[in-house]
Amino acid sequence: MLKTKLGDIELDGVFTNGSGANDDSLEKLLQIAGSRAGFVTTKTSTFLPRAGNPGPRFYTLRNTTINSMGLPNPGYKKMAEIIRELKTKTKKPVFASMSGFDAHEAGEMAKALSAADVLELNLSCPNLHGKSQIIYDPEATDEVLKVVKKSTDRKIAVKVAPFLDSDAQLEFCGIAKKRGVDLIIAINTLGNAMYVDADREKIMLKPKWGGIGGEAIRMVGWGNVRRYYEYFKGSIPIVGCGGIFTGKDAFAYALAGASAFACASALYTPEGVNAFARMEKELEEELKKHNYSSLAEAVGKAKEF
Ligand code: SIN
Repeated sequence: MLKTKLGDIELDGVFTNGSGANDDSLEKLLQIAGSRAGFVTTKTSTFLPRAGNPGPRFYTLRNTTINSMGLPNPGYKKMAEIIRELKTKTKKPVFASMSGFDAHEAGEMAKALSAADVLELNLSCPNLHGKSQIIYDPEATDEVLKVVKKSTDRKIAVKVAPFLDSDAQLEFCGIAKKRGVDLIIAINTLGNAMYVDADREKIMLKPKWGGIGGEAIRMVGWGNVRRYYEYFKGSIPIVGCGGIFTGKDAFAYALAGASAFACASALYTPEGVNAFARMEKELEEELKKHNYSSLAEAVGKAKEF
C-alpha cells in the first residue's frame, strides 16, 4: 500500500480521479472513496447549475479521449451539500473542484465549499465556448487567487491547462507563488481539439471543439510537471495528470516531479475505479525495481542526459 504527502496532507493511496470522471453525485464519489484512491475529487461545480454542452460530447479513441462536456454540474450549493454528506462517510480528503466565472463568484463559492479539505480551482476548462480559460489570462488568474485566498482558510489547488509556452507557464508560476497556492494539479485536457471522422465526413462533437486527454497529452504532462517541479523546488507539491493508465506512467510522472496522480481517461473503461488498485500495485513494483523504498524518494529523480 503506497502513501504520499501533499504538503501536510497525508494520503493513504497516491491516486485520485481527475475531476470530471464520474464524480458529480454522492453515489459516484462514494465509489471513488471506497476504492484505493488516496483522495476524492468532485466534478467541477459552477455558480449556477449547468446542463453542459448539447453533445455528442465524449469519445475514447486509441487511449486518447476527447470531450466537450462544458461542466455539467448541479451548481455549487448542491455540491456543498454533497461534500458535507460525503465527509460524514469517508475519512479520505476531499478536493472540491470549482470554477467561478469571475473573482466574485469564485469568492462566494470558496466560502460555501469549505467543508472540503482542498479547493481545487479549475481555471482551465477548454469547453466553455465564449469564455476563455482564466489560466491563460495572468491578470484574471491573479484576481481570482487573491479573492479566493481571502474567502477561505482551506488549502488552494489550481488545476492548470497545458502550457505550450514555457514563458507563459513561468508567469503563472510567479502568480501562484505570490498568492500562496498550496498545490498544482497538472494538466487538464488540451483544448481547441477536434475529432473529424473521415468516413462520415463529419465533426463528431457538438459543439465542434473539445479537450483531449489520455495518451496523446502524456508527454505535455511530464514536461509541464517538470517545469513546476524545477520552479517550486518541491515547495508546492504537484499532482500529475494526463495519460496515466499504468503504474509505470505514474512512475514517470513521479520522476518528473509529481507526488500523487490523477486519472480520468483510465476510469472510462470497464475496470472503472478498480484501476487505482491495479496501478498502485504496478507502481509499487516499479519503485522496487528501481530501488526506491518510497514514492517520495523517487519524486523529481529523472536524470538529465
Ligand atoms: C468539462 O466538463 O468540460 C470537462 C472538465 C474540464 O475540462 O475541466
